[in-house]
Amino acid sequence: MSRFPLSARIRALPPYLFAELDRKKQEVRARGVDIIDLGVGDPDRPTPKFIVERMKKEAAVPANHRYPSYEGLPEFRDAAAKWYRRRFGVSLDPSTEVVALIGSKEGIAHFPLAFVNPGDTVLVPDPGYPVYHIATMFAGGRSHFLPLRRENGFLPDLDAIPPSVLAKAKILFLNYPNNPTSAVAGRKFYRKVLRFAQEHDLIVAHDVAYTEVYFDGERPMSILELPGAKKRCIEFHSLSKTYNMTGWRIGFAVGNAELVAGLGKVKTNVDSGVFQAVQGAGIAALESGDEVTDAIRKTYQERRDLLLPGLRALGLDPVLPRATFYVWIPVPKGYTSASFCAHLLEKAGIVTTPGSGFGRSGEGYIRMALTKEKGRIREALSRIRKVGF
Ligand SMILES: Cc1ncc(COP(=O)(O)O)c(C=O)c1O
Repeated sequence: MSRFPLSARIRALPPYLFAELDRKKQEVRARGVDIIDLGVGDPDRPTPKFIVERMKKEAAVPANHRYPSYEGLPEFRDAAAKWYRRRFGVSLDPSTEVVALIGSKEGIAHFPLAFVNPGDTVLVPDPGYPVYHIATMFAGGRSHFLPLRRENGFLPDLDAIPPSVLAKAKILFLNYPNNPTSAVAGRKFYRKVLRFAQEHDLIVAHDVAYTEVYFDGERPMSILELPGAKKRCIEFHSLSKTYNMTGWRIGFAVGNAELVAGLGKVKTNVDSGVFQAVQGAGIAALESGDEVTDAIRKTYQERRDLLLPGLRALGLDPVLPRATFYVWIPVPKGYTSASFCAHLLEKAGIVTTPGSGFGRSGEGYIRMALTKEKGRIREALSRIRKVGF
């Protein structure tokens, strides 16, 4: 018996599915193998220099050394609103419809605390970013998982949700462009989502961390572009992937003023906002032109266009990513997600992520991240060809 038993909520957390893989990774590394890590969703390139330079300046300003404002500097919220207008044509009131976040994960994790009561249901995509489910649990809610299937373009079948579930449902979490499937949603789907949410009085919480990592010039849209969407939608945006800023911890939530204020209420009680110097650097990023994001996209597009044909030539059938820097790949016959990852790691020294780590419907897939240079991607393909499967 532990002297400090963990709370029931922590004990109820799903098992950490990557633990076994982490252990194997250490083991393989200890054997001296040159590991190619395609597991992590963390940009390998540094933050653009002008952002770092702005940070240096802002860090020297004494006013920035004090507690920041909870909801974010007016200048940061203004820059976020202008960015939304420029990118999506969506108008936002920076004083009521925008809140700064310590990374979008923070906002997503806190959001259910503001709107979910114990016993309420939250609709959660499966496979999906694990935080939607965990945050729901922490708020005392129950997740109802929405399977994302290849035959449906990895969009949830809303009509398949039982009425008894809908009667208790408060929030519908969505994430497009999608991690881990790389799918993008279009206007028709978002229209359906809005109609459905109105009919069942749901809040739509849309995670849009990957809207700027897209391919072939096809820009993903925001659900807020639809008329009336602001009545019940909130979007979580991040500077992490858009500007190679994962370590900086900055993002923002936008949308319905009541939803933004509810999230703000949780935040004022658990954090004290984003370091103002980081917000200053965030402003520099948001105010920069398309050439910054174009360059980032070009990098991933080249890697995608190298990896995809390579995987196909090996006999695999990967989903063609339309956005995000992930490649979602069905495992070959005879393998599970975990056993194929283990095979690639043990025999080829390649780290990938088992789809089962993203939920039950992720079983049968693995995820590769395009976060390594082309030379390493070529090397990974050549190793897989050698060891086979
Ligand atoms: C789908 C999705 N949403 C949100 C996040 C969180 O990003 P951040 O907290 O860095 O903004 C991630 C990070 O990997 C993600 O994959």
